[in-house]
Amino acid sequence: MVADSHAVQDYQDRDHDEGGQPGRAGRLRQRRPPGPAAPPGAAQDPATLVHARGLTKRFGDFTAVDGIDFDLIRGEAFGFLGPNGAGKSSTMRMIGCVSPPSAGTLRVLGLDPVEHGPAIRARLGVVPQEDTLDIELTVAENLLIYGRYFGLRRDVIRERAAGLLGFFQLADRAADRVESLSGGMKRRLTIARSLINEPEILLLDEPTTGLDPQARHALWDRLFRLKQAGVTLILTTHYMDEAEQLCDRLVVLDAGRVAAAGSPRELITRYCPPEVVELRFSLDEHEQAGQRVTGLAGEQDRGRAVPGDQAGVDRVEVLPDRVLLYTSDGPAALAAVRGAGLLPLTTLARRATMEDVFLQLTGRSLVD
Ligand SMILES: Nc1ncnc2c1ncn2[C@@H]1O[C@H](COP(=O)(O)OP(=O)(O)OP(=O)(O)O)[C@@H](O)[C@H]1O
Ligand SMILES: [Mg+2]
Repeated sequence: MVADSHAVQDYQDRDHDEGGQPGRAGRLRQRRPPGPAAPPGAAQDPATLVHARGLTKRFGDFTAVDGIDFDLIRGEAFGFLGPNGAGKSSTMRMIGCVSPPSAGTLRVLGLDPVEHGPAIRARLGVVPQEDTLDIELTVAENLLIYGRYFGLRRDVIRERAAGLLGFFQLADRAADRVESLSGGMKRRLTIARSLINEPEILLLDEPTTGLDPQARHALWDRLFRLKQAGVTLILTTHYMDEAEQLCDRLVVLDAGRVAAAGSPRELITRYCPPEVVELRFSLDEHEQAGQRVTGLAGEQDRGRAVPGDQAGVDRVEVLPDRVLLYTSDGPAALAAVRGAGLLPLTTLARRATMEDVFLQLTGRSLVD
């Protein structure tokens, strides 16, 4: 990553009075001098940090991102939720100015990524899907080298690094080689590193994939605090709980297209009844029981039930291991199941989640 001279100058000008605390990001942006003039046709609303219309990425004959529209607004946390191969990373790489769009309009910070890549990259923080830390070097050295890409002075980097390592609970590991860190620590370091240039937008491609639940929660907490401090986040995930926890708004991507867009709550309300009852049957009963539960919801529609049954069962999904029953009245629906003589091994009543939204939209589960 190489910053252009204008942007480097931009950072150097502020070095004398800006520290490295993520909490200062909001102030930093307000004090930023205007960047290069926006080219004609750029999104004029300064609150719109990323503007995409018909954004497309093709690899040969294959279309990975198929004409998607979205706007990222300053201060929000925006997510791309989708399964493997949905086009999340391809989209992030276009926003990160490392992969040119094949078609459509893309403006990042009001600029065209193809023409103004270096200037935009200098104002972004990028956390790629795979960590790209130098594992032979120490934690502190990784931050130093990254900061030098942006033309930051060593004393400035040291000051910022101290703030970032404290914020990401890595201060006591500063002198350790990266290879000795746990997966969660490496991920935190990658995020710390991406903030060394005090970016206006932080791009996080699957920030917590592969981490254990405790490490994921710790990272969510840090990302939430960054957002509170005014950093605009754009992230990808295939975890519905991550999307619900972190994202103010999200786009559900499936096979390169936008399947739905909105806040997690809006999407759940729009696509699902409020309650879900999960039923598990013994293996040999599963298929037949699934059909009979589906029958409780009334007519069949392409293998799925349609709304409108008196038993309170709006819709049924038969998964390989479970039967999901969507309803506005869990107890009534369960009573209907038992009334039909069906005896599940276990039952679980829960609220509808983004996973259910995804199932409803695509007929498939989010995680392969
Ligand atoms: N450089 C490339 N050359 C050819 N095909 C590619 C390239 N990069 C991505 N693809 C294809 O584009 C599609 C979308 O890939 P992408 O990495 O954007 O998906 P993703 O949503 O990030 O998936 P994952 O959750 O597995 O990271 C996939 O089918 C992938 O194989
Ligand atoms: Mg990806």
